[in-house]
Amino acid sequence: MAAGKKYKIACIGAGNVGASAAQYCAEMELGDIVLFDIVEGMPQGKALDLTEAGPIRGYGSVLTGTNDYADIHGADVCIVTAGLPRKPGMSRLDLLNTNGKIMTTVAENIAKHAPDSTVIIVTNPLDVMVYLGFKKLGFPKERVMGMAGCLDSARMRAFVAMELGVSMKNVDTMVLGSHGDHMVPLPHHTTVSGIPITKLLPQEKIDAIVQRTRKGGGEIVALLKTGSAFYAPGASAARMAQSIIRDEKQLLPCSAYVNGQYGLDDVYIGVPVVLGKDGAEKIVEIEISDEERKALHTSAEEVRTGISGLKEVGIL
Ligand code: APR
Repeated sequence: MAAGKKYKIACIGAGNVGASAAQYCAEMELGDIVLFDIVEGMPQGKALDLTEAGPIRGYGSVLTGTNDYADIHGADVCIVTAGLPRKPGMSRLDLLNTNGKIMTTVAENIAKHAPDSTVIIVTNPLDVMVYLGFKKLGFPKERVMGMAGCLDSARMRAFVAMELGVSMKNVDTMVLGSHGDHMVPLPHHTTVSGIPITKLLPQEKIDAIVQRTRKGGGEIVALLKTGSAFYAPGASAARMAQSIIRDEKQLLPCSAYVNGQYGLDDVYIGVPVVLGKDGAEKIVEIEISDEERKALHTSAEEVRTGISGLKEVGIL
């Protein structure tokens, strides 16, 4: 991605998360933004609404809405949030089948219209959908990744800051593993202005924060009653797009394709990644405890079960 170039971001799925991602990308003036959705009028309406916020918020990004994949032509980054939420009575396999079919169509169209893009997948079940997207896109592994750890880490940072009464900006952490109950928060790599939280909080408070992080998505669902979180997921996807477009080399936990790292092979899982112009440029291996490694492997097994499910329903 050349310096001085005008970038294009395609948000595939213009629902709550897709529209929030578009909003944050516009606020950061990362480039021009195309909102795509299958619902007629909705992406056009949201794009127009966001455009009309521009004069007030002071951004100049050109936002358009479309139902035609041809309009994502030449996108540099695609943020994929297209999918259906799990409804009552729907099994995990049903969700895999439904979102798996959607992901397949999305991947085929991205490959056709934006073959040089870097793809950030947000659709759940996350790590399984990223693996499927990777297989269907046929892009190099560096250009296909999932957004999860960035969100889970942001939640943990917020919880630590709330507990200690300090600025969220001072808190840093990493959450690895799959996006779900088996995610692996790393309290030993959590600091407040360089001070480990183990020196600032008693173990039971740390344990409670780890648990709250694991259930972070569910906490919002329970409060909203209809729908799930979208501000923080949208902001997390935009943050990843920012690091890629601006070649910032931010070290962020992302769902990336592992081949040997952390003793794992041929799976997408949350690991620390350097994000730059070439996408997921490098997976960084940090020292983790035996217990954390075990949890990471359990988490990978869960993703593999999902991948087997996709094979079972004939999508992979
Ligand atoms: N192609 C494109 N868009 C589609 C398709 C498709 N085949 N099928 C559905 N969509 C669109 C829907 O029309 C909807 O606008 O995907 C959008 C999803 O938006 P929401 O239902 O508002 O869901 P959202 O809260 O944005 O979550 C999107 O991200 O965090 C994950 O679990 C979440 O998988 C979900 C995804």
